[in-house]
Amino acid sequence: MTVLVAGGAGYIGSHTVTELMSRGFDVVIADDFRGSSRKTLQGIEAITGKRCLCWEGDLRDYDSVSAAFSQWRPETVINFAAYKSIGESVEEPLKYYDNNLRVMINLCRAMEEHRAERMIFSSSATVYGSGSSPMGEECQASETLNPYGETKKICERILMDFNRAHPSKDVCILRYFNPVGAHSSGLIGESSEGRVTNLMPLICMTAAGKAGPLKVYGQDYPTPDGTGVRDYIHVTDVAAGHVAAMSFLKEHKGVHVFNLGTGRGISVLEMIKAFERVNRVKVPYKVVSRRPGDVAECYASVEKAEKVLGWRARLDIEDMVRDAWRFETMEQQDVF
Ligand code: WQD
Repeated sequence: MTVLVAGGAGYIGSHTVTELMSRGFDVVIADDFRGSSRKTLQGIEAITGKRCLCWEGDLRDYDSVSAAFSQWRPETVINFAAYKSIGESVEEPLKYYDNNLRVMINLCRAMEEHRAERMIFSSSATVYGSGSSPMGEECQASETLNPYGETKKICERILMDFNRAHPSKDVCILRYFNPVGAHSSGLIGESSEGRVTNLMPLICMTAAGKAGPLKVYGQDYPTPDGTGVRDYIHVTDVAAGHVAAMSFLKEHKGVHVFNLGTGRGISVLEMIKAFERVNRVKVPYKVVSRRPGDVAECYASVEKAEKVLGWRARLDIEDMVRDAWRFETMEQQDVF
């Protein structure tokens, strides 16, 4: 049973591929390496002791996607392939709509043409817009806060309509909150190369002396310490959520939506203090004005994933900061 993982060389994709290969699934990565590194494949192979099968091509080109499906004949598709920077999506909305929607449409068309039966989609808590936490799966926002979130919302709609037209195509939509951390080996993780906007890689860059003091975007939110609160979830837990979805879709027809979060909100200052305490490094910071588009707090309702999907997050903030730092220090050693 082959699983084609679109965007499988990326941050969350590579951790999911590692979990699937470690559990004996036949996996092929489909990636164009525009947003990821080939070194990641070496990390996956070092962890699993197995060769990474990879198809390199442009997922925005239907003929390429169809050729990949002809070659690998996947029964299941996991789609991670999307641009994901909120800020960049505001500056370049057409780039986000063109890429994120076109890839989803191509994958669905190829599923229809090549009789792939199941899709697991990497969606996001950004579809909840500025709703109040904890966010339940039924709380979909009428309007998201940025083009990135809108592409995720539209992709969910594409999948729901695709299933209505083709009832044999079963779908699991997984809405991530804030994935952070790295594989415990330190061999794969969230690279701090290139354009970095997320909190954890920026903390790592400051701690490693690769950047100046961390900017804390606002300390005047209505939260316990005034800084933004998010539901950070270890990327290994997110990967395990995809393995649970694989098993779930073997037994369940239709379209199913689950939050992947911990159900706990952690503030920026709490994350900084935990990082310093666990890793015994300093993270200098300065409070600056709020970042446009940020909400005060966002964390998940996790009951449905626990009761229906049979999955819950097991790693805690100490695991997240320890594993993120290990990857950062090993990446600096250029292991591959
Ligand atoms: C987290 C908190 C910032 C940087 C992310 C991803 C997005 C999507 C949703 C999956 C906020 C604060 C950050 C910094 C800071 N993920 N912060 N200084 O905005 O919640 O969005 O989750 O689909 O792809 O971007 O994550 O890490 O950017 O911010 O103070 O230098 O950290 O204000 O409160 P965000 P983030």
